[in-house]
Amino acid sequence: MQNGKFITLEGIDGAGKSTHLAWLEDYLCSKGVKVVVTREPGGTAVGEQLRALLLDQRHTMHAETEALLMFAARREHLDKIILPAIQRGDWVVSDRFSDASFAYQGCGRGVAWEKLVLLEQWVQEDFYPDLTVYIDVPVMLGRERVNSVKAADRFESETDAFFDRVRTGYLERVRQFPQRMQILDGSLPLDEVRAALAGVMEHFWLNQALHEK
Ligand SMILES: Nc1ncnc2c1ncn2[C@@H]1O[C@H](COP(=O)(O)OP(=O)(O)OP(=O)(O)O)[C@@H](O)[C@H]1O
Ligand SMILES: [Mg+2]
Repeated sequence: MQNGKFITLEGIDGAGKSTHLAWLEDYLCSKGVKVVVTREPGGTAVGEQLRALLLDQRHTMHAETEALLMFAARREHLDKIILPAIQRGDWVVSDRFSDASFAYQGCGRGVAWEKLVLLEQWVQEDFYPDLTVYIDVPVMLGRERVNSVKAADRFESETDAFFDRVRTGYLERVRQFPQRMQILDGSLPLDEVRAALAGVMEHFWLNQALHEK
């Protein structure tokens, strides 16, 4: 059976990931693809418990503890959801994946990049998303959007300086993986971001079709 694909959406809080993920699911369904929508941290029973721990405002934890818990949740996510779905031939779309660990725990919290590379290799071996869409927004804009919809969690209550570092981390990953990662300007009006995403998806879809011929 033909393998499925793995697509991830990345960006700081309020970038528009959830909004565009819903569109992406419809887009892929319209192509006749079976889609599994999931998120990180989370996506499994154990992962969702780890997510609750990680987002809980009452907890403080060492930056490396946070990184280890993120990768622990990811290990479970790969084992229970992502890899089985891809092996069935389904497409998996995840709201965040390991690029977020480099951005948040690496640049945001200061965990050594090399340690994250080691964790990534340990947990994923040579497995990477087939496509990652990074939605880039200025920190203030992301914050305004999130503040208008819900109360802040342990990450969302971080400073602007923290989110500036996170954004730098994402941009560094885009620089390292220019083929896999596509950057969208999330500060544009919603329909323009969607049109740009549609362009990225059409390109990706055509490329897949060409490779499978
Ligand atoms: N390009 C845009 N223009 C205007 N509003 C937008 C745009 N993108 C998203 N929004 C709005 O901003 C809010 C946050 O968007 P969304 O929940 O999709 O972000 P997110 O990246 O999933 O955030 P989080 O990381 O907190 O889950 C929503 O109310 C959404 O409608
Ligand atoms: Mg969201």
